[in-house]
Amino acid sequence: MKRDVIIALDFKDGDTALNFLDKFKEEKPFVKIGMELFFAEGPSIVREVKRRGHKIFLDLKLHDIPNTVKGGMRSLTNLGADILNVHAAGTVDMMKAALEGTQREDGTAPMLIAVTQLTSTSEERMQKELLINAGINETIIHYAKNAKEAGLAGIVCSPLEAGMVKEAVGKDFITVTPGIRFADSAKDDQVRITTPAKAKEIGTDYIVVGRPITQAEDPVAAYRRCMADFAD
Ligand code: C5P
Repeated sequence: MKRDVIIALDFKDGDTALNFLDKFKEEKPFVKIGMELFFAEGPSIVREVKRRGHKIFLDLKLHDIPNTVKGGMRSLTNLGADILNVHAAGTVDMMKAALEGTQREDGTAPMLIAVTQLTSTSEERMQKELLINAGINETIIHYAKNAKEAGLAGIVCSPLEAGMVKEAVGKDFITVTPGIRFADSAKDDQVRITTPAKAKEIGTDYIVVGRPITQAEDPVAAYRRCMADFAD
Protein backbone atom coordinates (compact mmCIF):
# COMPACT_ATOMS: atom_id res chain seq x y z
CA MET A 1 0.00 0.00 0.00
CA LYS A 2 1.50 3.31 -1.12
CA ARG A 3 0.62 6.44 0.84
CA ASP A 4 -0.78 9.27 -1.31
CA VAL A 5 -2.16 12.79 -1.15
CA ILE A 6 -5.67 13.33 -2.59
CA ILE A 7 -6.60 16.91 -3.55
CA ALA A 8 -10.27 17.78 -2.83
CA LEU A 9 -11.57 19.45 -6.00
CA ASP A 10 -14.18 21.49 -4.15
CA PHE A 11 -14.99 23.85 -7.02
CA LYS A 12 -18.36 25.14 -8.20
CA ASP A 13 -18.02 24.05 -11.82
CA GLY A 14 -15.97 22.02 -14.25
CA ASP A 15 -14.13 24.96 -15.86
CA THR A 16 -12.79 26.13 -12.51
CA ALA A 17 -11.73 22.60 -11.59
CA LEU A 18 -10.02 21.94 -14.93
CA ASN A 19 -8.26 25.34 -14.87
CA PHE A 20 -6.94 24.40 -11.45
CA LEU A 21 -5.66 21.03 -12.74
CA ASP A 22 -3.98 22.80 -15.69
CA LYS A 23 -1.49 24.26 -13.18
CA PHE A 24 -0.01 20.79 -12.70
CA LYS A 25 2.40 20.25 -15.59
CA GLU A 26 4.67 17.57 -14.15
CA GLU A 27 2.50 15.51 -11.83
CA LYS A 28 -0.98 13.98 -12.02
CA PRO A 29 -2.38 14.30 -8.51
CA PHE A 30 -5.00 11.89 -7.15
CA VAL A 31 -8.18 14.02 -6.82
CA LYS A 32 -11.48 13.86 -4.95
CA ILE A 33 -14.70 14.86 -6.70
CA GLY A 34 -17.56 15.49 -4.29
CA MET A 35 -21.23 16.42 -4.47
CA GLU A 36 -20.76 20.07 -5.43
CA LEU A 37 -18.78 19.42 -8.60
CA PHE A 38 -20.50 16.14 -9.53
CA PHE A 39 -24.01 17.54 -9.16
CA ALA A 40 -23.03 20.63 -11.17
CA GLU A 41 -21.40 18.80 -14.07
CA GLY A 42 -22.58 15.20 -13.94
CA PRO A 43 -20.61 12.14 -15.09
CA SER A 44 -18.78 14.09 -17.83
CA ILE A 45 -16.46 15.75 -15.29
CA VAL A 46 -15.37 12.32 -14.01
CA ARG A 47 -14.68 11.09 -17.55
CA GLU A 48 -12.71 14.26 -18.40
CA VAL A 49 -10.55 14.21 -15.26
CA LYS A 50 -9.95 10.49 -15.83
CA ARG A 51 -9.07 11.14 -19.49
CA ARG A 52 -6.43 13.59 -18.28
CA GLY A 53 -4.82 10.76 -16.35
CA HIS A 54 -5.82 11.47 -12.73
CA LYS A 55 -6.98 8.86 -10.23
CA ILE A 56 -10.35 9.80 -8.73
CA PHE A 57 -11.98 9.36 -5.34
CA LEU A 58 -15.68 9.91 -6.15
CA ASP A 59 -17.01 11.02 -2.76
CA LEU A 60 -20.80 10.66 -3.08
CA LYS A 61 -21.50 8.73 0.16
CA LEU A 62 -24.33 6.46 -1.03
CA HIS A 63 -26.98 5.41 1.51
CA ASP A 64 -30.20 3.70 0.30
CA ILE A 65 -31.71 0.21 0.14
CA PRO A 66 -29.15 -2.46 -0.89
CA ASN A 67 -30.49 -3.03 -4.42
CA THR A 68 -30.51 0.69 -5.24
CA VAL A 69 -26.99 1.20 -3.88
CA LYS A 70 -25.74 -1.80 -5.87
CA GLY A 71 -27.10 -0.25 -9.10
CA GLY A 72 -25.74 3.17 -8.22
CA MET A 73 -22.32 1.71 -7.52
CA ARG A 74 -22.35 -0.11 -10.85
CA SER A 75 -22.96 3.17 -12.67
CA LEU A 76 -20.22 5.01 -10.74
CA THR A 77 -17.80 2.12 -11.25
CA ASN A 78 -18.37 2.27 -15.01
CA LEU A 79 -17.28 5.93 -14.96
CA GLY A 80 -13.80 4.76 -14.00
CA ALA A 81 -13.62 5.94 -10.37
CA ASP A 82 -10.72 4.54 -8.31
CA ILE A 83 -12.28 4.99 -4.85
CA LEU A 84 -16.02 5.05 -4.03
CA ASN A 85 -17.84 5.32 -0.70
CA VAL A 86 -21.06 4.57 1.19
CA HIS A 87 -22.43 5.33 4.65
CA ALA A 88 -21.77 2.43 7.02
CA ALA A 89 -25.11 3.34 8.66
CA GLY A 90 -26.77 1.65 5.66
CA THR A 91 -25.97 -1.73 7.32
CA VAL A 92 -23.70 -4.65 6.44
CA ASP A 93 -26.20 -5.90 3.85
CA MET A 94 -26.14 -2.55 2.05
CA MET A 95 -22.34 -2.46 2.08
CA LYS A 96 -22.18 -6.02 0.69
CA ALA A 97 -24.57 -5.02 -2.11
CA ALA A 98 -22.46 -1.92 -2.81
CA LEU A 99 -19.37 -4.09 -3.07
CA GLU A 100 -21.10 -6.36 -5.59
CA GLY A 101 -21.93 -3.30 -7.67
CA THR A 102 -18.25 -2.33 -7.85
CA GLN A 103 -17.08 -5.57 -9.53
CA ARG A 104 -16.18 -4.97 -13.20
CA GLU A 105 -16.45 -7.74 -15.81
CA ASP A 106 -12.68 -7.66 -16.36
CA GLY A 107 -12.12 -8.60 -12.71
CA THR A 108 -11.01 -5.12 -11.56
CA ALA A 109 -12.89 -3.03 -9.01
CA PRO A 110 -12.53 0.43 -7.47
CA MET A 111 -11.67 0.51 -3.79
CA LEU A 112 -14.83 0.78 -1.68
CA ILE A 113 -14.70 2.56 1.68
CA ALA A 114 -17.28 3.62 4.28
CA VAL A 115 -18.12 6.79 6.16
CA THR A 116 -18.68 5.95 9.85
CA GLN A 117 -19.91 8.99 11.79
CA LEU A 118 -19.32 12.28 10.00
CA THR A 119 -16.80 14.47 11.80
CA SER A 120 -19.51 17.16 11.89
CA THR A 121 -21.64 14.92 14.16
CA SER A 122 -20.88 15.46 17.85
CA GLU A 123 -21.26 12.71 20.42
CA GLU A 124 -24.06 14.72 22.06
CA ARG A 125 -26.12 15.04 18.86
CA MET A 126 -25.48 11.43 17.91
CA GLN A 127 -26.90 10.34 21.26
CA LYS A 128 -29.77 12.85 21.48
CA GLU A 129 -30.91 12.99 17.84
CA LEU A 130 -29.89 9.59 16.48
CA LEU A 131 -30.59 7.76 19.76
CA ILE A 132 -27.27 5.91 19.61
CA ASN A 133 -26.48 5.05 23.20
CA ALA A 134 -22.74 4.56 22.84
CA GLY A 135 -19.67 6.77 22.78
CA ILE A 136 -18.68 8.25 19.42
CA ASN A 137 -15.36 6.35 19.27
CA GLU A 138 -17.09 3.09 20.12
CA THR A 139 -19.58 3.79 17.32
CA ILE A 140 -16.82 4.56 14.82
CA ILE A 141 -14.97 1.33 15.67
CA HIS A 142 -18.19 -0.70 15.50
CA TYR A 143 -19.10 0.75 12.08
CA ALA A 144 -15.54 0.16 10.87
CA LYS A 145 -15.80 -3.49 11.93
CA ASN A 146 -19.12 -3.76 10.07
CA ALA A 147 -17.44 -2.33 6.96
CA LYS A 148 -14.66 -4.89 7.26
CA GLU A 149 -17.20 -7.71 7.73
CA ALA A 150 -18.95 -6.57 4.53
CA GLY A 151 -15.63 -6.86 2.70
CA LEU A 152 -14.89 -3.15 2.29
CA ALA A 153 -11.30 -1.94 2.07
CA GLY A 154 -11.46 0.76 4.73
CA ILE A 155 -13.09 3.93 6.04
CA VAL A 156 -12.95 7.71 5.93
CA CYS A 157 -12.08 9.14 9.35
CA SER A 158 -10.33 11.99 11.10
CA PRO A 159 -6.54 11.56 11.13
CA LEU A 160 -6.72 11.54 14.90
CA GLU A 161 -8.93 8.43 14.76
CA ALA A 162 -6.85 6.51 12.20
CA GLY A 163 -4.50 4.93 14.76
CA MET A 164 -7.38 3.76 16.94
CA VAL A 165 -9.21 2.29 13.91
CA LYS A 166 -6.15 0.41 12.69
CA GLU A 167 -5.50 -0.95 16.15
CA ALA A 168 -9.08 -2.23 16.45
CA VAL A 169 -9.73 -3.44 12.91
CA GLY A 170 -6.27 -4.28 11.57
CA LYS A 171 -3.38 -2.32 10.12
CA ASP A 172 -4.23 -3.30 6.54
CA PHE A 173 -7.66 -1.68 6.86
CA ILE A 174 -7.32 1.51 4.80
CA THR A 175 -7.89 4.91 6.41
CA VAL A 176 -8.58 7.98 4.25
CA THR A 177 -8.31 11.14 6.30
CA PRO A 178 -9.38 14.75 5.65
CA GLY A 179 -8.74 17.46 8.24
CA ILE A 180 -5.15 18.16 7.18
CA ARG A 181 -3.45 21.52 7.72
CA PHE A 182 0.15 22.72 7.57
CA ALA A 183 1.32 23.91 10.97
CA ASP A 184 1.52 27.47 9.59
CA SER A 185 -1.77 27.58 7.63
CA ALA A 186 -5.37 28.60 8.47
CA LYS A 187 -7.64 25.98 10.10
CA ASP A 188 -10.74 27.29 8.23
CA ASP A 189 -13.79 25.44 9.62
CA GLN A 190 -11.89 22.24 10.45
CA VAL A 191 -11.52 21.32 14.11
CA ARG A 192 -9.84 17.95 14.56
CA ILE A 193 -6.82 18.52 12.33
CA THR A 194 -3.24 17.42 11.98
CA THR A 195 -0.27 18.08 9.69
CA PRO A 196 0.77 15.85 6.77
CA ALA A 197 3.90 14.79 8.69
CA LYS A 198 1.91 13.83 11.80
CA ALA A 199 -0.64 11.96 9.62
CA LYS A 200 2.26 9.91 8.25
CA GLU A 201 3.47 9.17 11.77
CA ILE A 202 -0.05 8.04 12.79
CA GLY A 203 0.02 5.67 9.83
CA THR A 204 -2.94 6.75 7.73
CA ASP A 205 -2.94 5.64 4.08
CA TYR A 206 -4.39 8.63 2.20
CA ILE A 207 -4.78 12.25 3.24
CA VAL A 208 -7.46 14.41 1.59
CA VAL A 209 -6.31 18.01 1.33
CA GLY A 210 -8.53 20.81 0.01
CA ARG A 211 -8.03 24.48 0.80
CA PRO A 212 -4.37 24.29 1.94
CA ILE A 213 -3.65 23.39 -1.72
CA THR A 214 -6.58 24.80 -3.75
CA GLN A 215 -6.46 28.25 -2.08
CA ALA A 216 -2.65 28.43 -1.85
CA GLU A 217 -0.84 31.18 -3.73
CA ASP A 218 1.18 28.42 -5.41
CA PRO A 219 -0.95 25.22 -5.40
CA VAL A 220 1.73 23.11 -7.09
CA ALA A 221 4.27 24.05 -4.40
CA ALA A 222 1.71 23.33 -1.65
CA TYR A 223 0.94 19.93 -3.20
CA ARG A 224 4.66 19.11 -3.41
CA ARG A 225 5.10 20.10 0.23
CA CYS A 226 2.28 17.72 1.21
CA MET A 227 3.77 14.91 -0.87
CA ALA A 228 7.24 15.46 0.61
CA ASP A 229 5.88 15.43 4.16
CA PHE A 230 3.46 12.51 3.72
CA ALA A 231 3.97 10.25 0.70
CA ASP A 232 6.45 7.38 0.39
O1 C5P B 1 -10.49 22.24 2.40
P1 C5P B 1 -10.33 21.04 3.29
O2 C5P B 1 -8.91 20.52 3.34
O3 C5P B 1 -10.92 21.26 4.66
O4 C5P B 1 -11.18 19.91 2.55
C1 C5P B 1 -11.39 18.65 3.10
C2 C5P B 1 -12.27 17.84 2.19
O5 C5P B 1 -12.60 16.62 2.85
C3 C5P B 1 -13.61 18.49 1.84
O6 C5P B 1 -13.96 18.02 0.53
C4 C5P B 1 -14.54 17.93 2.88
O7 C5P B 1 -15.88 17.87 2.43
C5 C5P B 1 -14.00 16.52 3.05
N1 C5P B 1 -14.34 15.89 4.32
C6 C5P B 1 -14.02 16.42 5.55
N2 C5P B 1 -14.36 15.78 6.71
C7 C5P B 1 -15.04 14.63 6.65
C8 C5P B 1 -15.38 14.07 5.42
C9 C5P B 1 -15.02 14.74 4.26
O8 C5P B 1 -13.38 17.47 5.62
N3 C5P B 1 -15.34 14.00 7.76
